[in-house]
Amino acid sequence: MQALIFWAVVGVTVSGGSCFSPPVVNISLDVPAEQRWEPLLKIFDKDFLRKAAAEVIDTTVPKWVHTAVSPIVKALEKYVPQPYAGEIRGMASCCQSDISDIVLLNFAYEVSAFCTSIVAQNAKGNIYHGRNLDYPHDVLKNLTIDIRFIKNGQVAYTGTSFAGYVGLWTGQSAKKFTVSGDQRDKGHWWENVISAFLLKSSPVSWLVRETLAEATDFQDAVMRLAKVPIITDVYYIVGGVQKNEGVVITRDRSGPADIWPLDWNMGQWYLVETNYDHWLPTPKWDDRRDVAMKALNTTGQTNINMHSLYQVLSVAPVCNSITVYTTVMSAATPDEYKTVVRETCEESF
Ligand SMILES: *[C@@H]1O[C@H](CO)[C@@H](O)[C@H](O)[C@H]1NC(C)=O
Ligand SMILES: *[C@@H]1O[C@H](CO)[C@@H](O)[C@H](O)[C@H]1NC(C)=O
Ligand SMILES: *[C@@H]1O[C@H](CO)[C@@H](O)[C@H](O)[C@H]1NC(C)=O
Repeated sequence: MQALIFWAVVGVTVSGGSCFSPPVVNISLDVPAEQRWEPLLKIFDKDFLRKAAAEVIDTTVPKWVHTAVSPIVKALEKYVPQPYAGEIRGMASCCQSDISDIVLLNFAYEVSAFCTSIVAQNAKGNIYHGRNLDYPHDVLKNLTIDIRFIKNGQVAYTGTSFAGYVGLWTGQSAKKFTVSGDQRDKGHWWENVISAFLLKSSPVSWLVRETLAEATDFQDAVMRLAKVPIITDVYYIVGGVQKNEGVVITRDRSGPADIWPLDWNMGQWYLVETNYDHWLPTPKWDDRRDVAMKALNTTGQTNINMHSLYQVLSVAPVCNSITVYTTVMSAATPDEYKTVVRETCEESF
């Protein structure tokens, strides 16, 4: 209730239509994977979904890759683990799309997300986690959804994604932990595909979803996100529910390259991760990290909360012309999970 009032007061008033809350959809894990995503059709028009997928694929995926995935598509269940194979198959059939398009779509997002993630603790040790997802495709703004994954009538975990995409780059396991992923650009498309299907490692966004589904607490989540082999390098940012439960995991495909925690005693009350290793300087042409740190310093530890974190994530160029959405979350107060789709970076809630 308190959360509701908070968001009503700060106002999701769509002033000038500039920013808006995405639709929320319930996806039941008790429904077979093939039918699970059908509720999307209550929100989105089939033709729109098909056209949007085609647009993302055409501008992102080299033509030869279309040919390269055809054996995967022919034997989907052999290459893609459950429930993803079933979900991809179901998504294709309910939108009357080609399965290969849905497969491509799921890999197109996998390698192209730029981002800023912040985890911070206030002076009481409350943990706040926020992220911007940047991706150079306007159409994604209209595909963004908040998803509640339901099991036995309860919310098992929550996430933010794009219609058609079965992985998660942003999510929350209530009262346990929150997680976001930021791209660490080392690999190339084709290496990732080969890695996925020949080495049988997991796409980074599937590991996020599995961790949300299975990890019992913050420590367990950090362990899984650090260790399980994945198809490409990435940064995983994890927030917990207690003092010092915040970490940036710098991932190589096979395991952790570095684990960087919050440290109360050292006065380390926030961690900012964009798309560069934290121990290296950021390139001059992309100073999002320094701008975010400066904004956090100005805010101060005593004043950090969901709203002020959102403000930090609204400062240019932390928020920029390709920012699709901002999510702020705190696992200890799961009802406050909040996503705003950014038409502009003006702070509008
Ligand atoms: C989605 O699930 C939540 C939690 O079980 C429930 O409160 C809500 O009414 C559901 N919404 C819809 C549209 O079914
Ligand atoms: C998103 O939806 C709005 C409203 O329906 C529409 O005006 C806009 O053109 C759409 N944007 C894209 C990129 O599809
Ligand atoms: C933020 O504050 C910390 C601690 O006082 C300081 O080390 C850092 O240089 C500051 N960063 C910026 C960008 O202002």
